[in-house]
This record gives sequence, structure tokens and C-alpha cells, in this order.
Amino acid sequence: MISFENVSKKYDDGTYAVNNFNLHIKEGELLVLIGPSGSGKTTTLKMINRLIPLTEGYIKIKDKMISDYDIHELRWDIGYVLQQIALFPHMTIEENIAVVPEMKRWDQAKIDHRIDELLNMVGLEPKTYRKRLPHELSGGQQQRIGVARALAANPPIILMDEPFSALDPLSREKLQDDLIELQKNIKKTIVFVTHDMNEALKLGDRICLMRKGEVVQTGTPEELIQQPVNEFVREFVGIDQGNRTTVDVREAIQPVTAEELNNLPVVAPTVSINEILSLLSEHEQLAVEEMDKIIGTIDRRGMIRILSRQMEGMK
Ligand SMILES: Nc1ncnc2c1ncn2[C@@H]1O[C@H](COP(=O)(O)OP(=O)(O)O)[C@@H](O)[C@H]1O
Ligand SMILES: [Mg+2]
Repeated sequence: MISFENVSKKYDDGTYAVNNFNLHIKEGELLVLIGPSGSGKTTTLKMINRLIPLTEGYIKIKDKMISDYDIHELRWDIGYVLQQIALFPHMTIEENIAVVPEMKRWDQAKIDHRIDELLNMVGLEPKTYRKRLPHELSGGQQQRIGVARALAANPPIILMDEPFSALDPLSREKLQDDLIELQKNIKKTIVFVTHDMNEALKLGDRICLMRKGEVVQTGTPEELIQQPVNEFVREFVGIDQGNRTTVDVREAIQPVTAEELNNLPVVAPTVSINEILSLLSEHEQLAVEEMDKIIGTIDRRGMIRILSRQMEGMK
């Protein structure tokens, strides 16, 4: 869906913000770009919709060079959510959401219907919120409107630059959970920037870890945990995946009926990270057995959630 081929961004002062970057982002995946501050995440994101021009290499969207797209078409067909709440302060919530549909000249009835649909989608009652101004909403609610606005004209691609970092931990966790739910239904291609590995593990189908403008490793959360390519990845991921490191899976198990159990591999409630990730790479679910009794099942999402929580606790 989005391909970077040997892409670099060199500033006039000679700084390479991004250096020989290669990545293929698949249709419908949520790809997380992560790395320390200054590693080139924002630059990489902004090159996709040409907010920053690249200086070497090329980027293709659906096999077409971004330079060959009409700039309006490109911007309107790519939703963009920023960290700083970027709603227009003097416009109501409905006006904020309607910006792109209006530029696309949708008729009013269609826009109206879409606003209701989007507000419901992000969990804000249309009747209550349509006519409000941004400052009459909490930070978390404003970020929800930011997400709704990015989705408004139904773009196939959404770029999100640290969208939840300014929020308090509770709102942030709630918005992360809601994004996972939302993505199950909308299946957009999402490029999500964060510097928080906990967030990356929780949200990412795949994670691309950057340092100094370069890709260090791209892979699934499990791959980064189990097969870090170097010490930098190991430290950044922050989970020692050694055989002796165990995890308690009880908090993420789901109830199960006897029929559903057919021949699932069985694990104990306390199990090594390595063992459970290896099993989950081959089986959708595992049965968890405690004192000769199956107490439920665990799947990949549940396991990643536990690891990501465990890291939160170590901070
Ligand atoms: N206009 C500019 N001129 C020179 N260097 C810049 C400019 N904008 C950004 N940079 C540099 O590019 C690098 C990458 O920045 P950025 O993409 O914002 O990183 P991140 O989003 O990962 O924190 C940083 O070293 C930053 O200082
Ligand atoms: Mg940034």
C-alpha cells in the first residue's frame, strides 16, 4: 500500500533526518513507527503526504509515485491526526469534522449523516456534542474528534503522530483500546508514530524501530521481543525474553467451553515468555490449565497486552 524505497531527507544544513529508509506498509495493517526523539519518525510520516519533500529515493502509494498524485487528492485521501490537539478553535465540532467532506463538495445531507455516524463511532453522543466548541471538551474527547475528523471522508490511509501522548494515562489507555476496536471494523492502513514501546506493542500489527533516521528492525511485536537484531532493540523493547523470564497469563484469559477446546496446546498459568510466544506463533489460542482444570484460553492479543502492561509497571 505504501512503499519507501531508499528514501532520504537531507536538510540544507546537511542533517540527514531520514537516511536510506526502506519499508513496505501493507494494506489494512497498523504499522507503528517508533524510536527515540529525533530519530526521524515525524519526518518519515510527513513525507507520505508530501508535507515534507523527500530529497532522495521514492515513496509509492498503491504503486503510484506520490509525486504523480494531485496534491489535494493526496492530502484529502490521507487522514492525519496530530499530538497537539489541532481542532479549529472557533469552529463547532460538526464544522471541524466536516472540513474535508466540504472540500470534496459532498452534499449537506450526506455530510450531516456522516457527522452523526463518526461521533457515534468515536463514542460521543451526536446530540450532545455536534454544536459544542473544542474548548468545551476534555483533552481525550478532543482527540476523539481529531480521529473522527481524520476519518471523515473515509480515506484509505490514516497517519497518526503521537496522537495520545499528551493525554493522562487513563484516557490514553481508553483511546488505545478504542482504536483497536475501531480498526477491527474499518481496517484502514494506519501509520502510527509513538516513542512509547508499551503503546507500540499494544497497537502494532508490525513495528518499525528507527534510530538516527534509519530502520533498525521491522517486525511483529513478537519478533522484536524474541529476535531483537541487536542490543539497541533489546533495550528499547525492554522485555528480557530469556527462557527464565516468566509471565502470569491469568489476567488475560478468556472463558471457554469444552467443545471449543479441541486439541489446543495446554500451558500453565505461569509460563516462560519464550515458550508462550513460540506456541502462539503456531496456534491462535492456547488453553490454560491450573490444578488439572482448564481455566480459559489465551490468544496473541491477550499475551501482548500482558507484556505491554508489565513494561508499564517497570517504568
Ligand atoms: N528544518 C530542519 N532543519 C534541520 N534539521 C531538522 C529540521 N527539522 C527536523 N530536523 C532534524 O531531523 C531529525 C528528525 O526529526 P523528527 O523527524 O522530528 O524526529 P522524531 O519525530 O523522531 O522526534 C532531528 O534530528 C531534527 O533535529
Ligand atoms: Mg516527532
